[in-house]
Amino acid sequence: MQEHSIIQLEEIGSSDIGYLSFFESCKDIPFAINRIYFTYAVPENGHRGMHAHKKLQQVLWCPFGSIEVLVHDGNSQTSYKLDTPSKLLYIDSGLWRDIFWLKSSKFLIVAASDYYKEDDYIRNFDEFKLMANKGYWRNGGI
Ligand code: TYD
Repeated sequence: MQEHSIIQLEEIGSSDIGYLSFFESCKDIPFAINRIYFTYAVPENGHRGMHAHKKLQQVLWCPFGSIEVLVHDGNSQTSYKLDTPSKLLYIDSGLWRDIFWLKSSKFLIVAASDYYKEDDYIRNFDEFKLMANKGYWRNGGI
């Protein structure tokens, strides 16, 4: 099954001096980062995402706002809330994501395993479900 989970980052510091958190390629997250991108100035109740990736892995990080991410594996859906800087959401390839801005948010930052490639996107949910249920990702994406 394609993996998706919250990664809780270490928080170094105290309430007196503030905190520092970090994540490192292939250590705290399961891939090497090749690209960072971010969305911003999305209005409250904004809805983005609505796609899956054939190969790309990502972590989503929402340091200021409050975002709900619905992750669908072709059969069932899991809801995640990102509302603290010390939490990342890891999303493997082969998972559909819907992202909702619960508040008008400053930034959703994404670290991705590869450069931008439009042909890695699946933007049609029925097509995604068919691929997931036919075992596209179980068979190594062939
Ligand atoms: P998309 O990934 O669909 O954004 P969201 O899921 O937030 O709605 O990308 C929106 C547009 O931006 C689309 O035309 C592709 C383009 N884009 C790039 O050119 N480079 C990138 O790194 C990304 C993520 C998107």
